[in-house]
Amino acid sequence: MLSYENKVILAPMVRIGTLPMRLLALRYGADIVYSEELIDWKFLRSKRRYNDILNTVDFVDQTDGTIVFRTCLEEKEKVVLQLGTCNAERALKVAKLLENDVAAIDINMGCPKEFSIKGGMGVALLKDTEKACTILKTLVDNLSIPVTCKIRIFETPEKTLEVVNKLVNTGIHAIAIHGRTKDERPQHAVHTDIIQYVAERISIPVIANGGSKEIEKYTDIFKFKEMTGCTSVMLARAAEWNCSIFRKDGMLPMDTVITEYLKLAVDYDNSPSNSKYCIQNILRDLQETPRGRKFLECQTLEQICAIWDLDEYCVEKQSEYQKKGIKGRWQVSP
Ligand code: FNR
Repeated sequence: MLSYENKVILAPMVRIGTLPMRLLALRYGADIVYSEELIDWKFLRSKRRYNDILNTVDFVDQTDGTIVFRTCLEEKEKVVLQLGTCNAERALKVAKLLENDVAAIDINMGCPKEFSIKGGMGVALLKDTEKACTILKTLVDNLSIPVTCKIRIFETPEKTLEVVNKLVNTGIHAIAIHGRTKDERPQHAVHTDIIQYVAERISIPVIANGGSKEIEKYTDIFKFKEMTGCTSVMLARAAEWNCSIFRKDGMLPMDTVITEYLKLAVDYDNSPSNSKYCIQNILRDLQETPRGRKFLECQTLEQICAIWDLDEYCVEKQSEYQKKGIKGRWQVSP
């Protein structure tokens, strides 16, 4: 059973938290990795397939063949699937589909985007705590793996604690707290005092989140942990920019991180568009350089790989997969 004590965690990030980035984070030293938020109905129209070429478990959208979620044995004991949902029954159906492939299920109760709020998901659940608790309790009562949620704080420590206590009473294993309110944005200061107030008063592990602006190196993670009084810390942007933040032995240069990321993207046949997006978020301002502009023109994984001298690696792997693919790409899951 996954423990949430004393952990350094890759936060859920849409489009960033796909398999190659999760594996990279684990290899650099992250203890737990969250998937990007995936909406329940996407899973409900997908089928679980064992991919015997890549040795992955794929949830494939039956309407368009896209891969909703790809995972593998290397992360099985450490990957947390984050669900976007507003409905207990649907959430349970999906969680049951995933129960044997992931280490835990997390419910997103912090997303402030219009798409989520209009659908009654994300931070909307913090307004409707009855519904939030029904979702969590339904999952806790019917799953063999831990259930958690990720929330934002309210304006006061007291109100935050009041809501957290209701959520904790459902039997969840841990709670991640992003120290900003629903109206605050990443540039606003993170309220470590409110996270600390809650962490001191509840009995389950609290995962502190929101400190990336001040986390520039590995040791900063533990300063944030101390400031928030939490047992565990979760990183989003610091990891998005340079995933080697999880390395005890210090961060690696950007080009090394991109090279290692790209190898995983090739190994796991990640889509060129998703791989490109992740690299864009590592390069950031450097997209304005001549090399950055060349990168932005790339459309295939091979073209991207060529910029980091991995084109041969990419071509070889892809032809190996193509040859194996003749036997048929999808096998019904073992
Ligand atoms: C996020 N965040 C987020 N949160 C969540 O619960 N589910 C998600 O899918 C996403 N997606 C996402 C994408 C990207 C690109 C970013 C930068 C952020 C929020 C994230 O998990 C975290 O709560 C905040 O970024 C604050 O933590 P940091 O960045 O200060 O470590």
